Amino acid sequence: MRLDVLTIFPDYLAPLDLSLIGKARREGLLDVQVHDLREFTHDRHRTVDDTPYGGGAGMVMRPEPWGEALDTVLAQPPVQPLLLIPGPGGEVFNQHMARELAGEPWLVFACGRYEGIDERVYLEAQERLPGRVRVVSLGDYVLNGGEVAVLAIVEAVARLLPGVIGNAASLVEESHEDGLLEYPVYTKPPTWRGHEVPEVLLSGHHGRIERWRRDERLRRTQARRPDMIAALRELPADHPLALGPADRAVLDEQG
Ligand code: ADE
Repeated sequence: MRLDVLTIFPDYLAPLDLSLIGKARREGLLDVQVHDLREFTHDRHRTVDDTPYGGGAGMVMRPEPWGEALDTVLAQPPVQPLLLIPGPGGEVFNQHMARELAGEPWLVFACGRYEGIDERVYLEAQERLPGRVRVVSLGDYVLNGGEVAVLAIVEAVARLLPGVIGNAASLVEESHEDGLLEYPVYTKPPTWRGHEVPEVLLSGHHGRIERWRRDERLRRTQARRPDMIAALRELPADHPLALGPADRAVLDEQG
């Protein structure tokens, strides 16, 4: 997968050299190119922002550097990238979107700062990449810019690519993969500071362990994310993720 990131803070993306993402880059699974937006300015101060028309607080990113930066990055036919613009006004990023993005060959991220990017940049990008521009929010809070969102999105997407995570089975029972949060995990020692590992996990009884883990997922999800349980209750009975009678019993017990 190819990734291009346009930003006025290229150093912010340095963590993409670390850990599994760094390894995936070194192994050629990911080609990440970070571009400094200021390289596409032509004045002595390398200006990327200006005051908003109509007045108001803060500064707005000028369209010209964005236009030139996108011209340069997009000038690589035949494939069209998906252009992602992080911002608090976008659709909320989730595991479903991570899976969609993981199926793309090429993602371009445009990181805004200040009060945002001149709206004409979005409009021109949409003309140029019809249906291939998405504004994406990490959640209902405001960051100072898109860079942290890019780090989060790239990590969530890259770990879904074949070969990035050694043990692909570890992707299956994770939070948000099937509508439930994950079960609690334990390792050695069996007793630590007076806290025991649940006996069932030491039993070697696979059927009991599986049921216990499912029950814990249900209890946890009900306690922390009742909205996710409500969504599962809405599914038709023949849906693969629908709650079964044993699931409903556990939830009713917890109240
Ligand atoms: N930039 C500023 N706030 C953001 C958010 N919540 N998500 C993504 N990008 C942002």
